[in-house]
Amino acid sequence: MALLDIKDLKVHFYGRSGLLSRKRKPFKAVDGISFCIEEGQTYGLVGESGSGKTTTGRAIIGLNPLTSGNITFNGRDLTMERRRGKITFDRNIGMIFQDPYSSLNPKKRVLDIVAEPLRNFERLSPKEELAKVQQLLAQVGISADSIYKYPHEFSGGQRQRIGIARAIALKPKLIIADEPVSALDLSVQAQVLNFMKDIQKELNLSYLFISHDLGIIKHMCDQIGIMYRGRYVEQGSSDELFSNPQHIYTKRLLSAIPVKEPSEREKRAREREAIAEEFQTSYHRYFDQEGLAYPLQHIAGTHYAAAQGTGGR
Ligand SMILES: Nc1ncnc2c1ncn2[C@@H]1O[C@H](COP(=O)(O)OP(=O)(O)OP(=O)(O)O)[C@@H](O)[C@H]1O
Ligand SMILES: [Mg+2]
Repeated sequence: MALLDIKDLKVHFYGRSGLLSRKRKPFKAVDGISFCIEEGQTYGLVGESGSGKTTTGRAIIGLNPLTSGNITFNGRDLTMERRRGKITFDRNIGMIFQDPYSSLNPKKRVLDIVAEPLRNFERLSPKEELAKVQQLLAQVGISADSIYKYPHEFSGGQRQRIGIARAIALKPKLIIADEPVSALDLSVQAQVLNFMKDIQKELNLSYLFISHDLGIIKHMCDQIGIMYRGRYVEQGSSDELFSNPQHIYTKRLLSAIPVKEPSEREKRAREREAIAEEFQTSYHRYFDQEGLAYPLQHIAGTHYAAAQGTGGR
């Protein structure tokens, strides 16, 4: 059985559709997505800004109530808890936030930041707590004498490692990592990503890895889901998606990954032109009347795509 099993997840927000209108029209931030994450694996969620990635992660951890759908985690059905809209956390799910500059409370010392989940879920004596925080910091390569410092005394990469120490404090089985390196410069990105991989092996962690950067997703993920306006346009293993993309939106994302070699660059530019043309001429093969993705159809293996005229049917 998968560690995390999401079925037909919907998160709709009810704002007013107009000043004079009493009718409340839902905004469908997440509109029926399904996926599984196996133990020890990394699942990537990709898509442009506003496609519903963070909303999905927040619904799983319990910060956004579900409109409908089911969430099973670690053999436990979280659906009812998540529907009620009460914030209930499962200690086996940790979270790394997008921006290390704002996700650590500037008024708190590192000790208090990393100890927070321990204080919520475990009864440790001050001495035990101190030892545990020091051990966690050692695990992420931050020196033990840093515990009385404040976040502003650290670099972005160091802060993100403090955020990781906090996320792994309770030895969770799953970590939701929402754009964990987007705010960091390239050299530090690689350092933090490799570190996340090391710690994954060490603790047999699973990741839900949210990013809009397909290069990073390719480096990190076993399975990938591509979101567009709250729906999936394509889903599959890293190999399936990168070697045989089916949806025009996926093709467009792939063709936007920068290439290093000048000879490749020209080829890529031609590809991009061809894809832009296909986007125009075959739009309705890929998007419905409202410009949304069609239901997914099976391609092969774990590969699904939301295009008409694909798959076995
Ligand atoms: N609490 C809320 N109330 C109303 N609308 C919301 C709420 N939270 C998110 N949304 C809307 O839902 C959509 C999806 O937002 P979300 O943050 O999930 O996008 P994202 O894919 O994470 O984008 P980004 O890459 O920019 O982080 C956006 O249009 C956003 O404005
Ligand atoms: Mg987001």
